[in-house]
Amino acid sequence: MAKRPLIETAVFPVAGRGTRFLPATKASPKEMLPVVDKPLIQYAVEEALAAGARRLVFITGASKRAIEDHFDSDRELESVLMSQGKSELVKQLHSVLPSYATCIYIRQPAPLGLGHAVLCARPAVGNEPFFVHLADDLIAAEQPCLAQMAAVYDVKRASVIGCETVPRRNTDKYGIVAVEAAGQTARIRSIVEKPKPAVAPSNLAVVGRYLLSPAIFDHLERTGAGAGGEIQLTDGIARLLHAEAVYAYRFEGTRYDCGSKLGYLQATVAYALAHPALGSDFRTHLRKVVAEGSRPGRSRSPGRSEKI
Ligand code: G1P
Repeated sequence: MAKRPLIETAVFPVAGRGTRFLPATKASPKEMLPVVDKPLIQYAVEEALAAGARRLVFITGASKRAIEDHFDSDRELESVLMSQGKSELVKQLHSVLPSYATCIYIRQPAPLGLGHAVLCARPAVGNEPFFVHLADDLIAAEQPCLAQMAAVYDVKRASVIGCETVPRRNTDKYGIVAVEAAGQTARIRSIVEKPKPAVAPSNLAVVGRYLLSPAIFDHLERTGAGAGGEIQLTDGIARLLHAEAVYAYRFEGTRYDCGSKLGYLQATVAYALAHPALGSDFRTHLRKVVAEGSRPGRSRSPGRSEKI
């Protein structure tokens, strides 16, 4: 019999409106923005599956039906593709979600914050540790970030938070932790949501990867509105770490902040360059663009353009 994974459930808070990407996100969720040929939420799900998760809990809000549709089978499309002899594409559609995975959708009744979104997952998570994955933070890594964190959990048997250092001027964009010791994994002493650089306890920032003990739920129940008037996951973790150990883990890999336009473009370029079918032609094109300084709308030809 297959070994039971350490962490079976992953929670994806996808209720945010993605206002930074309007109008692109007016009718379509920001998690459906594609990086090359897959939407952000699919990268998120693949990372969770690679770390052993098989129960996928999406905390949704308004205008998020496209996410459900993406992970649902589309028999009509499949039969059209089959009738056109495009069985390869049908195979790709089937690979979006393996048959052993279960999707659960829970509607967050109002946009009350990330901590509240995580609390909405409680009935589906139960009394087991679980992952929280924010699809905005796309992490390219040899071993997927959540799998790295599950390995830390295997040793520590305590909550693990994915972290990286950021420039001090940016501390007000993140949850910031103070740790007890140097090193890749260290116990968190304190955590604060989006502190101003002058008062931040460090420049070690929380990225959108959490492996949490189910005890977090009781703490979130008691957490009131914090930064931005929202119930913050960070504040729930601040309570949790008084009751049990919580570790910061400096993951190995490169994070792209796909919640910002520049980070999204950087991810697109990096993933296009690494794409097995596109990478080489895209590299040639990029070199040409940089050398010539071409701008969209100018008359220069984009060069060879094939359907791949
Ligand atoms: C959220 C969390 C923050 C964390 C960040 C990572 O903030 O509240 O603590 O550092 O994700 O991306 P948001 O980016 O949703 O404002």
